[in-house]
Amino acid sequence: MTSNVIQPDGIREVAVIGLGLMGSGIAELVARSGRRVVAVEVSQDFLDQGMARLNASLDRAVSRGKLTGPGRAEILARIRPADDVAAAVADADLVVEAIPERMDLKRALYAGLDAACRADAILATNTSSLSVTEIAGGTRYPARVAGLHFFNPAPVMKLVEVISTVLTAPETSAALALLARDLGKTPVQVSDRAGFIVNALLVPYLNHAVRLLETGQATREDIDTAATAGLGLPMGPLTLLDLIGLDTALAVLEVLQAEFGGTRYAPAPLLRKLCDARLFGRKSGRGFYDYRHPAPAAAGEHHPAPVPAEVALIRDPDGRLDELARQITAAGIHLAAQPSAGTGLVIVAADPKHRVLDAALAAGHPADVVGIRFTGAGDGKPGLTELVLPDVTAAGTAAKARALAAELGLNAVTSRDRPGFLTEALAYAQFNDAVRMFQDGYASPADIDTAMMLGCGYPRGPLQMLDDAGPAHVVTVLDAMHAATGDPAYTPVPLLAEYATAGTPFRRET
Ligand code: 3HC
Repeated sequence: MTSNVIQPDGIREVAVIGLGLMGSGIAELVARSGRRVVAVEVSQDFLDQGMARLNASLDRAVSRGKLTGPGRAEILARIRPADDVAAAVADADLVVEAIPERMDLKRALYAGLDAACRADAILATNTSSLSVTEIAGGTRYPARVAGLHFFNPAPVMKLVEVISTVLTAPETSAALALLARDLGKTPVQVSDRAGFIVNALLVPYLNHAVRLLETGQATREDIDTAATAGLGLPMGPLTLLDLIGLDTALAVLEVLQAEFGGTRYAPAPLLRKLCDARLFGRKSGRGFYDYRHPAPAAAGEHHPAPVPAEVALIRDPDGRLDELARQITAAGIHLAAQPSAGTGLVIVAADPKHRVLDAALAAGHPADVVGIRFTGAGDGKPGLTELVLPDVTAAGTAAKARALAAELGLNAVTSRDRPGFLTEALAYAQFNDAVRMFQDGYASPADIDTAMMLGCGYPRGPLQMLDDAGPAHVVTVLDAMHAATGDPAYTPVPLLAEYATAGTPFRRET
């Protein structure tokens, strides 16, 4: 196979085809780097919408003092809107395709690009779910075709995945990686596999969050708060789904399920239903949240329960509730060591490996029991309080626990009593997926962590978080999740079990 591929410093004119959410961000990014951009859409209407989005993003940068008015004008002067693909790509050194995720549309477009592009131009697809190999296979010059996967919002997220197929020339992926660096991004180079690194780890986690919501494990707000306050992530999973688009997430899951099978990638029925209802998230005005009629800030507790006058707190040998006991006493609430008939609320220490129910039965008065656990504190952040309610607790117990948490100024969420509660249930299943990816030889632990930090704003990568939690602890919680649900998706993968037994961390190199 001969390859006649343009060199990275020769990439001066870039045609961006498709000016949706991602395409407009990519066009902005490339124009900011000093290159000429031809911004292509199928109709004047779509072109106007895309350019309006791009303009709004530049306006935002100007209003935040990140860009000057003349700087904005220079960037815009480098962008030439066009609605005729063949004419638009004729002089392009690079074409970045970001059209809707339909293979028939992509194949038709690439067939046309073959004839219209220069013979040395690189064709890069921003697909998040389709096979780059299949796209490349339909062209005459597959050596010049690769994936160039950006993350939403494209101007902000620092990662670009450069995806090579078996047909991609090394010069093509090398040129794209250098270009990504020149755009201020960090490239990770991977082969063509469903979901690449980030979507294969992120989207099943998002799907899991939808399952937690639809099975009544917690409210949407509490699931999102568990991820931000408990895990330190920049956005909750349901807010993030609304940002990237529920339809996009569903398409990624379908591809992952077709490639890998099993239960982990089966789309949550609620996700599919919201897509059927065309509630795709921010871009359609409503998804898990309503962006046209935002809920008032104080929604939820219309008649907050009174703070209980007496609380029984069952101390555990590890002293996990000692600080809470001090806070309760300091708040002037009577603290009992054991519940009596008049006790309003009974608190036990909750452990994500075990049911709170067992501790509740041991404590007596199970209808009044709530499990409490603190997580996520550190780096000066307040952390999260998970209030865990066995299904046998009385209807008012959750309200009393929330009233107590509010009185003590705790950032509390409420979860049903299932192993892993909210934070571990979300995080540990993803850690398991990350180990599977390493076990499969697809990416190194360092690349996996870099990809999730730069692509999704994680403060630490999943394998670093796994090491920090302790592989043995993670295995025990996953085993408990598996036992409680019967879902094989939570079975620790063999390499995780092996490292846990040996006490070996995944990020040995750091
Ligand atoms: N366009 C341009 N700039 C934007 C922007 C947008 N849509 N949204 C935010 N920004 C900029 C702001 O201007 C600000 O810039 P500055 O610091 O220079 O002033 C900066 O980003 C931070 O913005 P905010 O202070 O308004 O908001 P946050 O601090 O809450 O950050 C966020 C917003 C960067 C989106 C952050 O919440 C985050 O990192 N979220 C995770 C996003 C993520 O996971 N993306 C990947 C999704 S997966 C994907 O895209 C792949 C696809 O195939 C599905």
